Amino acid sequence: MSNRPYIVGNWKMHGTRAMLAEARAIDRAAERLLKVEVALAPPFTLIHATRKEAELIGIGAQDVHPADGGAHTGDISAAMVKDAGASFTIVGHSERRADHKETNALVKEKAVSALAAGMSVIVCVGETEEERDAGKAEAVVGRQLTGSLPTGDGVAEKITVAYEPVWAIGTGRTPTVDDIGAMHRHIREKLESIYGEAGASVRILYGGSVKPDNAAELLAADEVGGALVGGASLTAESFLGIIIAAA
Ligand code: G3P
Repeated sequence: MSNRPYIVGNWKMHGTRAMLAEARAIDRAAERLLKVEVALAPPFTLIHATRKEAELIGIGAQDVHPADGGAHTGDISAAMVKDAGASFTIVGHSERRADHKETNALVKEKAVSALAAGMSVIVCVGETEEERDAGKAEAVVGRQLTGSLPTGDGVAEKITVAYEPVWAIGTGRTPTVDDIGAMHRHIREKLESIYGEAGASVRILYGGSVKPDNAAELLAADEVGGALVGGASLTAESFLGIIIAAA
């Protein structure tokens, strides 16, 4: 694992070719920001074009189907996104867990498939507001980690975990720095119980309403190795604000 903060933009279902200019601007600035590892996960339709526009930053997918290929109309395999230029994929984002009823077992299958295709994987976890209010946040995230993370020799090196409390996504609300630190320490313990020593080096990102003006504070929380950014990654100006805060 690199010690540099890892800042990943998740464009979600945003972006037509007009947005390639943002990717280009981010990439040009990334050249000057060697202290930060920067990546973008555009929609499938822009992976290839973004890879061609942006030479320095990492490019990934937001999801993959667990199968290698076959009769799955409308789905995309890990090998296909890799061929288009992606070197990693996000899996288990809470929007997919909610909108597509994705289970931990399915998220794990997707991660296994991406690893088999030679990609690295960002596995997302996070509790709902109801679960947090009921004092169940750590238990929920613990179960998501146990159920969603692939295991095996050399796997930990290819995994990043993103902790995204569902109630903080796109809402402008964030947990306190202490709460983020507490959850990230809990995730670290789980990672060490799942991967042994290798679990100590897995990067844990925070995601949920990260903006240029709160990034420095959130990134300073215990065990936070970077950020998974939604809305604020859609323009070069705001995404670069976060990258500069991380540098
Ligand atoms: O994956 C990133 C995400 O869910 C956070 O979104 O818009 O709150 O930064 P946003």
